[in-house]
Amino acid sequence: MRILFIGEIVGKLGRHTVGALLPGLRKDANISVVFANAENIAHGKGATKATLSEVQSYGVDYFTSGNHIFWRKEVFEEFDAENSSIIRPANYPQDIPGQGFKIIDLGKNGKILLINLLGRIFFNEPVFCPFRTVDKILEDFADERLVAIVVDFHAEATSEQVAMGWYLDGRVTAVVGTHRHVPTADAWVLPQGTAFVTDIGMVGARHSVLGVEKEIIISKLKNPQPQKFEWVEEGPAVFNSVLIEVENGKAKNIERIDKVIAP
Ligand SMILES: [Fe+2]
Ligand SMILES: [Fe+2]
Repeated sequence: MRILFIGEIVGKLGRHTVGALLPGLRKDANISVVFANAENIAHGKGATKATLSEVQSYGVDYFTSGNHIFWRKEVFEEFDAENSSIIRPANYPQDIPGQGFKIIDLGKNGKILLINLLGRIFFNEPVFCPFRTVDKILEDFADERLVAIVVDFHAEATSEQVAMGWYLDGRVTAVVGTHRHVPTADAWVLPQGTAFVTDIGMVGARHSVLGVEKEIIISKLKNPQPQKFEWVEEGPAVFNSVLIEVENGKAKNIERIDKVIAP
């Protein structure tokens, strides 16, 4: 089985880039299921039903998210929908809207457990320990017949993500990182069979700072005045993803699939 995990889809340009590339990729690479991080899918801030549906029509099946998913309340309805396509980090307290994990039934291909976690280093978010949280989830699903367990660990510090990879090696199929929007070159399969990458990256504007207008960020870094963020919606775009090959619950291979498209 092959799982494609796409990095954070940023705004309209990110969505259109997925639309331009994913249908062909999905066919050529014989992919069973596609995940993507959607915390920036609606004009860079959070997600809406319309933006999630649009990207599902291009071939993304389910979404993870992160600290920015709470920017738009519209997504709360999506969190609660019967066949919800989106989860949020599992280590937020239980009274926060949304679920932190999901069983995905792929029919004859079996069931996948998708888990989302948030890091704590350099984050000021009210979350519990991600290590203990994932232990509890894995314990709760110990008797479930699963073909794969995939974890999106959304974090700021690379050390926290690398440590999580080692912590879960042999216990899950893949640990992939998100949040920084910058891809890392360390995709590999850990010794006990867990595919790992510190950061998948993003799908969004190449001529930007993490998707945002570069002039705004440069000005923000040079001056004390607050700046209103605007997202780049045209020009060349990057597409960052990883393709994970799974056999008997273990990862056999992980490879980066990175592309750049120019208008
Ligand atoms: Fe993000
Ligand atoms: Fe984030």
